[in-house]
Amino acid sequence: MVPTVEWKDGTVCLVDQSRLPGAVEFLTCRTYQDVAGAIRQLKVRGAPAIGVTAALGVALGAQSLGETEYASFAKAVLAICDQLAATRPTAVNLFWAIERMKRRLASLRDCPVSSIKQSLIAEAQAILDEDVLLCKRIGRYGAELIRDGQTVLTHCNAGALATAGYGTALGVIRAAWEQGKKIRVIADETRPVLQGARLTTWELMQDHIPVTLITDNMAGTLMRQGKIHLCIVGADRIAANGDVANKIGTYSVAVLAKAHSIPFYVAAPYSTIDLKTESGANIPIEERSSVEVTTIHGSHPVAPDGVTVYNPAFDVTPAELITGIITERGVYKPGELAEQFQA
Ligand code: MRU
Repeated sequence: MVPTVEWKDGTVCLVDQSRLPGAVEFLTCRTYQDVAGAIRQLKVRGAPAIGVTAALGVALGAQSLGETEYASFAKAVLAICDQLAATRPTAVNLFWAIERMKRRLASLRDCPVSSIKQSLIAEAQAILDEDVLLCKRIGRYGAELIRDGQTVLTHCNAGALATAGYGTALGVIRAAWEQGKKIRVIADETRPVLQGARLTTWELMQDHIPVTLITDNMAGTLMRQGKIHLCIVGADRIAANGDVANKIGTYSVAVLAKAHSIPFYVAAPYSTIDLKTESGANIPIEERSSVEVTTIHGSHPVAPDGVTVYNPAFDVTPAELITGIITERGVYKPGELAEQFQA
């Protein structure tokens, strides 16, 4: 797989996901504002990936500061953190990663600014490296849930592209495949931005994992025909009660899975679990531009000019529809998470 995002020669380099699968192009961010723009415009997307990218953005912004005293330097870094945190509201990994960078900064208050700058790069890199490890652990636990010959439905892209590498939901699928299980994947196209059609199929095809693309409204029929054995999706934020915010359409998949007695799993690392948010009702849901709905991928219009559009980017799946949450520590019932992940 191409690296989703990396620190390269004093820049933040990422694969431009808005261009995939047509072109594999790399975007070089030279300022933290470039990083913020890339997150906002979905050039990098997926909860863990935007957390990692924001952390790298904080480190990048810090390098450009001329302040030599801790107090003024820290104030400027915190202002950078605020701007990166304002890019997208739903994925808690973004805020988690920025908070971790802030904690590292505060822990270095007695060090020279030049060495703090280096330590911030190291911390962002540690967040990136840790994310890949977490995904691999999630993969190992989750693979146990998939039997040889089964077909898994996934929604959106919770793969290597949505993380620092390997993926959460797709990490589980990858791990099962690596164990030699002959599995198949059904990928929902995931309107409006088509992360399933553009990214999940591309990623799986790179790894030669059999994948079939369907439109979002086909999942019910396939379930009724017995063609789907389990569903695995990622998450942008998991509330303390086990409710899960994920890409719009996830809730519909979960309802359909329940109606057909098909297990519905969510795969996510601890950085996606937000115990400070009591339930899904308290999770902020991003609303995005109408253009995403009135066009296919920003260019081909499919609706009349001026039509009223509602475009929430995420929905909330209530805990009772979720069979289990696959984490790097094991698989838990949604109601068990708060106890397992208390600090
Ligand atoms: O709008 P996006 O593409 O950032 O939304 C991504 C998703 O909803 C993913 O399913 C989620 O972030 C989990 S990624 C491991």
